[in-house]
Amino acid sequence: MKKKVLAALMAVALTALTACGAAPAAPAASGSGDAAPAATDSSSSGSGKKVAVAMPTQSSERWMHDGANMKAQLEELGYTVDLQYAEDDVQAQVSQIENMIAAGADCLVIAAIDSDALVNVEQQAKDAGIPVIAYDRLLMNTDAVSYYATFDNKGVGTKIGEYIVQHADATPENPKTIELFMGSPDDNNAHMLYAGLMEQIQPLLDDGSLICKSGQIDFEDNNTLRWDQQTAMKRCEDILTRYYADEDLNICACAYDGLSYGCMSALEGAGYTDANWPMITGQDAELMATKHIISGKQTMSIYKDTRLLASKCVTMVQAVLEGATPEINDTEQYNNGKIVVPSYLCEPVPVDKDNYEEVIIGGGYYTKEQLAE
Ligand code: BGC
Repeated sequence: MKKKVLAALMAVALTALTACGAAPAAPAASGSGDAAPAATDSSSSGSGKKVAVAMPTQSSERWMHDGANMKAQLEELGYTVDLQYAEDDVQAQVSQIENMIAAGADCLVIAAIDSDALVNVEQQAKDAGIPVIAYDRLLMNTDAVSYYATFDNKGVGTKIGEYIVQHADATPENPKTIELFMGSPDDNNAHMLYAGLMEQIQPLLDDGSLICKSGQIDFEDNNTLRWDQQTAMKRCEDILTRYYADEDLNICACAYDGLSYGCMSALEGAGYTDANWPMITGQDAELMATKHIISGKQTMSIYKDTRLLASKCVTMVQAVLEGATPEINDTEQYNNGKIVVPSYLCEPVPVDKDNYEEVIIGGGYYTKEQLAE
């Protein structure tokens, strides 16, 4: 039995890894969110144990893929999956997790909306002997979490920052204006991304190569609660009106594709055209964002292969339920305030016009046809 589970798990990991490399795999992403499973070994019969997966929202494409990939890969191993989305409603997620515990979940996988709000319910899980795994977003201030599967979150910010440094052509003699649109303050990832980004661009702000006319450089001034598109749009509109009446904004450093869409609407509303369109960054390489990269509306995004993340998380589920050993590559960075959580960090990959075909189409994430629709 254990052997079968292990073999199936290896098939999952192998297929997901292949999907990350040059050989195309079944597309993980489709408009309907029913991502294809990375695993194909239907001979495996799992334990029948119940894994409950709590996801933040269906309003963002990436979480649809994450949920679908987790469900498919866990079911492939014979687990029963209870997948629920809370539509960015903090209390709804608390209730969902309470219900998952009451319904007899054997393991909880949580991608938190506001992890501080989950501390009590995580304690309930611990008291009931249910292991908890943090998915993509760290669960803060709890010792109830066993493992954390994520992308290198500071690395996401570093890569966005490096891209700006390398491509903005900003010098003290020819400075560029920049505004920052960062993520949600209740999400640890947003803070790490900001730290990675600032490490790269601070020297250019210091020597006058980059100028932030609003002065909103501190995270407390440029974050976006719940990573909300409308909030980013309104803030961008306000900044353009107040600070860019006489000069163009050259760079929108956005921490997520949804924020980029918000900025694009604000820029269009303010009369920006191809002639003065700024560099716009993003994260997740959503289908829409990748189309924007092709058309030139968005400059770059960070590709995060959710199939790979799911496969790493599945090994952690295996570890807590079957006693297997999960792959861990970070035992230092993710201190949640109570414990340092053993983590696996997947590598984020910057994508732009020059490499999207190789990385995204070549990796089987979207097809040429999907991008042409
Ligand atoms: C994730 C990002 C995502 C953002 C908004 C973050 O926690 O790591 O990939 O863009 O949430 O959903």
